[in-house]
Amino acid sequence: IETPYTGVNDDRTSLGLSPAPEFLYGYFPDGFMWSVATAAFQIEGGWNEDGKGKSIWDVYTHEGHVEDGSNAHIACDSYHKYLDDIVILKELGVKHYRFSIAWTRIQPTGLEKEPNHRGIEYYNRLINALLNANIQPVVTLYHWDLPQALQDRGGWLNTTLIADVFANYARLCFEHFGDRVKFWVTINEPSMVAWIGYGRGRKAPGIRGESDLVYLAGHNLIRAHSAAYRVYQKEFQARQRGFVGISLNIVWKEPKTRDPKDIEATERAMQFDLGWFANPIYGNGDYPEVMKKQIARKSMENGLPRSRLPEFTPDEIERNKGASDFFGLNTYTSRLVEHFDQPNKKPTYFKDQDVKYTMDPNWQIGARSRAIYPEGLRRLLSWISRRYGPRPIYITENGISDNNGTLEDYHRIDYLNKYINAVLKSITIDGVRVVGYTVWALMDNFEWERGYEEKLGLYHVNFEDPLRSRTAKASAKFYSQVVANNGFPP
Ligand code: NOJ
Repeated sequence: IETPYTGVNDDRTSLGLSPAPEFLYGYFPDGFMWSVATAAFQIEGGWNEDGKGKSIWDVYTHEGHVEDGSNAHIACDSYHKYLDDIVILKELGVKHYRFSIAWTRIQPTGLEKEPNHRGIEYYNRLINALLNANIQPVVTLYHWDLPQALQDRGGWLNTTLIADVFANYARLCFEHFGDRVKFWVTINEPSMVAWIGYGRGRKAPGIRGESDLVYLAGHNLIRAHSAAYRVYQKEFQARQRGFVGISLNIVWKEPKTRDPKDIEATERAMQFDLGWFANPIYGNGDYPEVMKKQIARKSMENGLPRSRLPEFTPDEIERNKGASDFFGLNTYTSRLVEHFDQPNKKPTYFKDQDVKYTMDPNWQIGARSRAIYPEGLRRLLSWISRRYGPRPIYITENGISDNNGTLEDYHRIDYLNKYINAVLKSITIDGVRVVGYTVWALMDNFEWERGYEEKLGLYHVNFEDPLRSRTAKASAKFYSQVVANNGFPP
């Protein structure tokens, strides 16, 4: 097996990392794409306005699954206050803004041939206002808000329908916005959609399924992505000359000890989490070997006649291969991995190890806190570029949460400072091609099943105030300096 991990000490050679100073002063390449992100359901509100259809998240929140009992009927009210968003984007000085289109504003049921023109007009207004402010839109087509009417037909489990309807929706968006939008993300974090939506049931549509459902949803997400990518390539690329990618999420992993079993388990975990989607799209068009083998073996042990992992047809493999112009990366934290044979043993998180990490007490998600480990980002970038290069990596999300929304968010400044510096080291010292960096999020918003309790914004939003006023946190000022300086002046 390949053992690209440095493990828990300083042997960086296997990842091609040379020693770096604690903090690197210097600049990012010219044209580096500084950005911040949001998503439609999390900020827009206007959930039933202007002909919008119901999405699975409308239904899921109405069913009362959100921890604080909230919904996103108004959220940040960006459907009406998008100009306020542009004011703060300008204040930050970013030249790119990643937001998503609500599928149900364009096609209320996901099946209409003609789009809902009031939905088109909203995004036209937003896109035009951004361009007037000299900010490039980076548009996500699917950030989790599937039309409920499609869910009623099985949603991501409907193999005969979903890839085609998604490609049609993508075509409508390319047709109406592609003259001005040059950066597209087809699907945001497909593994979360499949795993949390159709396996754990903690996100919409809230299905608690066995792993066969999870793998089937994943399979159709990949098929849908590749179909949309090919639509752009065939019908739009020559005229519109944009870039189309997908955003994959990953928690960087390192082995808990240097025991070869732990090292192998770590590689396996990376393949099951990231390779699942990355290998079909950026690798050989198909699932990673280790996944195919292990799932087939486990299926057999459980007496199933065939593997729970669906198979791509030869045509699909061809369509998947290379179906992305950049590697969109969402990443927040790192984790240690330990091999275990017994089921039901909890995975290991970063603790008691001889690496430079901090368990941030502010960053408490449920019962556990998360590791701040900037070196993990640097190692992850090298890992990705070795396997899936030479395609450029675009960091489409990175950030840290708290649950008080404090304006004096020095813990966020500390995090961003170190993580952005890790990106600089990756580019300057390791030679990795990273073309952009995005903070999640522009402002506090509706954090899915956690409602408004967990906050990741550079701007505070007053959810008590009908005007939903936005106020800069200390981190907004910090980030605007990094952007203005294009790095860390010596
Ligand atoms: C992942 C998702 O893309 C985004 O919607 C979410 O709010 C952030 N990360 C933070 O959890």
